[in-house]
Amino acid sequence: MVKFAPSLLSADFARIAQEIAAVAAAGAQYLHFDVMDGRFVPNITWGPKIVADLRKLSTRTFDAHLMIVEPERYVDEFRAAGADIITFHVEATPHAQRLLTHIRASGAKAGIAICPQTPVAMLRDVIEDCDLVLVMSVNPGFGGQRFIPRAVEKVREARALIDAMQPACELEVDGGIGEANLRAIVDAGANVIVMGSSIFGAGDPGAAVRRLRALLDDAVSHGA
Ligand code: DX5
Ligand code: ZN
Repeated sequence: MVKFAPSLLSADFARIAQEIAAVAAAGAQYLHFDVMDGRFVPNITWGPKIVADLRKLSTRTFDAHLMIVEPERYVDEFRAAGADIITFHVEATPHAQRLLTHIRASGAKAGIAICPQTPVAMLRDVIEDCDLVLVMSVNPGFGGQRFIPRAVEKVREARALIDAMQPACELEVDGGIGEANLRAIVDAGANVIVMGSSIFGAGDPGAAVRRLRALLDDAVSHGA
């Protein structure tokens, strides 16, 4: 079963409780939190308090995507706030294996993300310590950017690596995904799909989730 992870970056925070309820009722399995520090990426979003406050609103899986430098300084705070999956960027730390192990020991699932410039091969020596691989299909920092087509091939490469070395690992893709390319990304082997503007940009997020889900009804699902 392919999972949907609506990115709250594109939600209306003045109506966040209704937005979360709408996507959850429509069947979205994860809620994706884009944490940005203005250093790793040129944008600032939110810290652990927002995650802790929103935790009271939902029992869905909280999927924290840390786009921050020195992620090792903050993973414990996001875990304490209620993050179920904590994903950091391989480009942001020299000690990815240590951090993956630390996140797992905290009781969270450990994810590792790669920017468009970073080859899938960078993950090979740490894949056995991963619960999730996140292939970025835009340069991280903002919602609503255009999908970078090369990402489809990277998803295939990541799927092959996961199947060979760590079959339980989830494969998530993030950035520029919507009706036009969802199916191709799933066919390439992704099983968790992050979508921000295509879910929250059109007025009725629940209807958007249902419409996007319908596109996959006869698609082959991988890994879930
Ligand atoms: C980008 C974030 C994404 C973003 C996706 O840096 O990691 O999660 O919110 O938004 P869309 O789906 O609009 O590209
Ligand atoms: Zn993200």
